[in-house]
Amino acid sequence: MKIESMLVHGPVDKDEATGAVNIPIYQTSTYAQQGLGVFKYEYSRTGNPTREALEKAIASLEGGYGGLAFASGMAATTAVLSMFRAGERIIIPDNLYGGTFRVLDKVFSHFDLKYTIVAPDDIAQLKTELEKGGVSAVFIETPTNPLMDVTDIRLVADAAHEKDALVIVDNTFMSPYLQRPIEYGADIVVHSATKYIGGHSNTVAGLVVTKTKELWDRIQFIQNSTGGVLGPFDSFMLLTGLKTLAVRMDRHNENAAKVFDYLKGEPAVTKIYYTGDPASKGYEIQNRQAAGHGGMISFVVADGYDHKAFVESLKLITLGESLGGVESLICHPATMTHAAIPKEIRDRVGITDTLLRLSVGIENADDIINDLKEAFAKAKKS
Ligand SMILES: Cc1ncc(COP(=O)(O)O)c(C=O)c1O
Repeated sequence: MKIESMLVHGPVDKDEATGAVNIPIYQTSTYAQQGLGVFKYEYSRTGNPTREALEKAIASLEGGYGGLAFASGMAATTAVLSMFRAGERIIIPDNLYGGTFRVLDKVFSHFDLKYTIVAPDDIAQLKTELEKGGVSAVFIETPTNPLMDVTDIRLVADAAHEKDALVIVDNTFMSPYLQRPIEYGADIVVHSATKYIGGHSNTVAGLVVTKTKELWDRIQFIQNSTGGVLGPFDSFMLLTGLKTLAVRMDRHNENAAKVFDYLKGEPAVTKIYYTGDPASKGYEIQNRQAAGHGGMISFVVADGYDHKAFVESLKLITLGESLGGVESLICHPATMTHAAIPKEIRDRVGITDTLLRLSVGIENADDIINDLKEAFAKAKKS
């Protein structure tokens, strides 16, 4: 079955008990047991039919052994990182979602889990770090949030596996419709399903997919022990979101390409970060490992324009955190999504005060472009 059909039907197509074409919201905490130790489901932290349908769906879409659904993307990442022990080391890229950096820097540091930062496209530096030993996992985000750096998943996986390190890929920006990291050697995929998978900015959720049963067992044990599960209603919301993922992603791809074409000629913009830019470093790799460029574009506002006045003048595009919804959203990473990253790291990698991150929605592309044009006109310094 092709992915568009898998998205609509999934591995659990209809409710077994009733034939309902949508998996019902099994809003229950517990289940009647037929006898002592005789039951299908025991307790909803451990298992719930709505959540399980979602977990099976994401596992089949990502081509993994099993899926697990969490209360947020950060709960998913936290469960994955909870596999590691004091003294072990994780390698992370120098720009990634600020919350992932924060949980390592401010929470897992209490338990002496260490991290090392490398440039996402510097395989030589990665290999040097792996040679030093003690690395349990390489965590990558490709493309990165917010600088759209592309990492060659296959190269990283080969280097990491040589040293018995796991490869964890945050696939939030792409979704399984555009990129399936397990096909390129990743061991674990995480998603902020709050974004493209939910797709409507109405649900906070996270997903994990593992390549093997062994990894699934370990993370499922953590999920059940620590309890950050996704509720039945939110699981239903994601199941609904998945059905339209293909058509939404196609439109995000199309609209972002049009917005990029406009931004290239816009004097108010000095630099654009977009994987669909043929001049960008990651263009070839992105074309090889992903089926599109998605809806994310970051750009730097030129000196003669006030970035604050610009975002405040937008009418159609909403200033707000998050991304991947049907509506276009813009954010200021330095003070919003990436404020947890120390300023010296932000400035060094390019998350400057005039960088903006645009999540191009599925509205009419001309309307999005006109909104940008009009806001730039208002933001021009006199
Ligand atoms: C790439 C990426 N990963 C993870 C997260 C965290 O997900 P959540 O906000 O659902 O906890 C985000 C949130 O913005 C993100 O952009």
